[in-house]
Amino acid sequence: METAELRARLAAARSLTVLTGSGISAESGLPTFRGVGGLWRMHRVEDLASPRGFARDPHLVWTWYAERRRAHAGVEPSSAHVALAAIEERVDDFTLATQNVDSLHLRAGSRNVLELHGKMRESRCTICDLRRPLDDVLVEFTRDGVEALRHDCGGMWRPDIVWFGEPLPRAALEAAFDAARRADLMLVVGTSGMVQPAASLATKQCTDAFVVEINPEETALTAHVDASMRARASDVLPDLAG
Ligand code: APR
Repeated sequence: METAELRARLAAARSLTVLTGSGISAESGLPTFRGVGGLWRMHRVEDLASPRGFARDPHLVWTWYAERRRAHAGVEPSSAHVALAAIEERVDDFTLATQNVDSLHLRAGSRNVLELHGKMRESRCTICDLRRPLDDVLVEFTRDGVEALRHDCGGMWRPDIVWFGEPLPRAALEAAFDAARRADLMLVVGTSGMVQPAASLATKQCTDAFVVEINPEETALTAHVDASMRARASDVLPDLAG
């Protein structure tokens, strides 16, 4: 599919849903999960991103998230993030459902963002669910180690991230499914489509929209979409927004 055709479809769209994954943040210099040099190629998921891994070694888990938080703070939204924020201004019913936890869509100015896999800027208590800024916990963790992770209620501070085996935040997920049902155009940008239920948003069970994948590689979703653009997010989205 050519950008000109997608541009025409965008101009005609009344309801647009965009699903993003770590490929769009690769444009800002962050690693993806499953690509070359990807996070899940260098680390064991079960040690770092599971409730069991956290129970076993909270120090290791927080040390890893501290590193990633620093990486997020050290990058800027890319032209692709910025383009999505500009597109939002032109479409009445716009929803951006992201699997990313790096806050780059919000920093780029996107407003109707559903963070399906949580957000790295916040932490929450494992028992009482109280929330506080992740950076506040990090300051104390860096100073006092694991002791700083204990909350008065008996729980532990953990990043507000959806770990493997955990349910997605219900309100965000429902809003994403509603948006997919309403959409007449859907863009799927920079995700391998390997992780459910997020990936299912782009399938015909969940949407009647015309679904366009923007990804330099074939993915698990390619067979389900209506058109594919084998391109980087920054090759397509700024052109669309312009
Ligand atoms: N533009 C568009 N797509 C890109 C770009 C780019 N510049 N660079 C890489 N990609 C694509 C890759 O081809 C790949 O299909 O981004 C995709 C990244 O896939 P994954 O590494 O599997 O990341 P993601 O789909 O975001 O993973 C989903 O898995 O571990 C969990 O919770 C984590 O949210 C994450 C989820």
